[in-house]
Amino acid sequence: MSLLPDYSRQALAYDSTRGASPSVLEPLMKALSGAPGRRLLDVGGGTGNYALALERDGWEATVLDRSPEMLAQARAKGLRAVAGDAEALPFAPCSFDAVMLVSMLHHVERPESALAEARRVLVAGGRLALLVFAREEIAGSFIPEYFPSSRRWLEETHPPLDQLLAMLPGARRLKVEYQDLTDGSLAAMTTRPQLILDAHRRSQTSFFERMERDHAEELRLGLERLARDIPAGRLAGRSDGASVLGWVKPGGPAGSA
Ligand SMILES: C[S@@+](CC[C@H](N)C(=O)[O-])C[C@H]1O[C@@H](n2cnc3c(N)ncnc32)[C@H](O)[C@@H]1O
Repeated sequence: MSLLPDYSRQALAYDSTRGASPSVLEPLMKALSGAPGRRLLDVGGGTGNYALALERDGWEATVLDRSPEMLAQARAKGLRAVAGDAEALPFAPCSFDAVMLVSMLHHVERPESALAEARRVLVAGGRLALLVFAREEIAGSFIPEYFPSSRRWLEETHPPLDQLLAMLPGARRLKVEYQDLTDGSLAAMTTRPQLILDAHRRSQTSFFERMERDHAEELRLGLERLARDIPAGRLAGRSDGASVLGWVKPGGPAGSA
């Protein structure tokens, strides 16, 4: 089951805590560099923050999302925005030089279908970049200790790195070390736990939306414990960020990989 099927409530306030983070953009740009052209598809691109940052870097971006409300925000930024599902992209094979999926694969019912679709629409030598909070990265953080009921559904929705890499043979992993909180994702906030005590920041993450919906009492207790443990320096777990996986579609000019 996907984490949060509907972004209509989040769309208007999303950008108040979720911008394009320089800590993410750097590895993302590395993973996309070397693409044969500049046509970029941002799958699950939401309000278009990362697409806009990459347009400013010379890419011609298309934002694809299943939420009309998120797409309306992207369109208001002047971005090309197309409604659709990551598992059935409305594009012909070989339509893009680069494809990215940023903080979205955990929402997709069948990640392998979304990745197959991303590979299909890429030209030979095209670049695919994924930003993921992988299962082992979450497990190492304090999240499962303070919000134990989330363990089961986080495991269902966040594959481990070896499973992701098996779906993208030859992919390389670039570590995301959060130096900024421009994108207040769950992964970024685990590096500054005190931000989790801010209800507005929490509300812009699918993780806390689901905790609120399914485990409200456990959420309350976990937050109380965090509020005690953070100032006392007793926080359990270690947070070491997220990962960008970069993959090159075989068949490009020799040496392009
Ligand atoms: C956490 S937001 C990330 C948005 C954007 N990539 C960013 O990092 O700012 C996840 C987005 O994925 C979209 N999404 C989830 N499942 C999808 C699917 N199957 N197909 C297309 N979009 C999807 C949601 O509507 C939402 O806009």
